Amino acid sequence: MPLDVYDSIREQRFAALQAEFMPLLPLTAGTPLTLELGCGHGHYLNAYAAAHPAEFCVGLDLIADRIARAGRKAARARLTNLAFVQAEAALFLQALAAPHPTHPEASPRLRRIFLLFSDPWPKRRHWKHRVMQSTLLDTLATLTDPGATLHFRTDHPDYFIYAQEVVAAHTGWRVAEPEEAPWPFEHVSVFEERALAGTPQSFTALRLETIPSAKIS
Ligand SMILES: C[S@@+](CC[C@H](N)C(=O)[O-])C[C@H]1O[C@@H](n2cnc3c(N)ncnc32)[C@H](O)[C@@H]1O
Repeated sequence: MPLDVYDSIREQRFAALQAEFMPLLPLTAGTPLTLELGCGHGHYLNAYAAAHPAEFCVGLDLIADRIARAGRKAARARLTNLAFVQAEAALFLQALAAPHPTHPEASPRLRRIFLLFSDPWPKRRHWKHRVMQSTLLDTLATLTDPGATLHFRTDHPDYFIYAQEVVAAHTGWRVAEPEEAPWPFEHVSVFEERALAGTPQSFTALRLETIPSAKIS
C-alpha cells in the first residue's frame, strides 16, 4: 500500500477513536484504567472486569469479529465497567495520550496493562511486528504513574526471553520479582487453552519513578 494511503487510513482511524471511543472513558480522577492489548475474544478481560468492578477495563484487538464477540459477552453479563474497541495497539495508545476531544485537561492513567499470548512472530525479520517493543514501553510510560504494572504471558520461550530483555533494557520499567508483584488474576482464555500443550511463562514489569524523555510512537 502506498505510504500516503496508509497514513491517511491511520489518520482516519485516529480521528474515529478520538471522536467515538475516547468520550466513553470515565474521566473521574482516580478511576483506574486496565487495558488488554490484543484481547482476542475477550475471555480473560470479561472475567477480570466482573471480578474488579471498581476498575474500568478496555480490551483492544485488530480483528473486528473478535471484538464483536468480546462485546457480546460483556453485554450478556451486563458489565458496565468494560469496553472493547477494534484498534491497533500503538494507534490506540497514541489517541489515549493525545488531548481528550471534549476534556483537554483530562489525563487518563493506566494502572494495569495485560499482554497475553501475544503473537510471537518467530522469524527474526518479523520481530518488528511484535507488540512488545521499546517504543510501546515509551508510550505506556507516558500513560502510567510509578507502580503501574504490565503483565506479560506467553507459551513461546523465545518471545518470553525477548520481552524480558526489552523491559530490562528500558529505563522506565523493570521486571519485578514474582513475590513482589503476584499475578493479579487467573482465567484461562481460548488461546491459553490452546497453548497449554506448551508451558506458558509470565512476568510483570513495574513502571519506575523516573522515565526517559518519552516519545509517542
Ligand atoms: C494469540 S491472540 C491472544 C488473545 C488473548 N490475549 C488471549 O490470551 O486469548 C493475539 C491477539 O492479538 C491481536 N493483535 C496482534 N497485534 C495487534 C496489534 N498491533 N494491536 C492490537 N491487537 C493485536 C490479534 O488480532 C489477536 O487477536
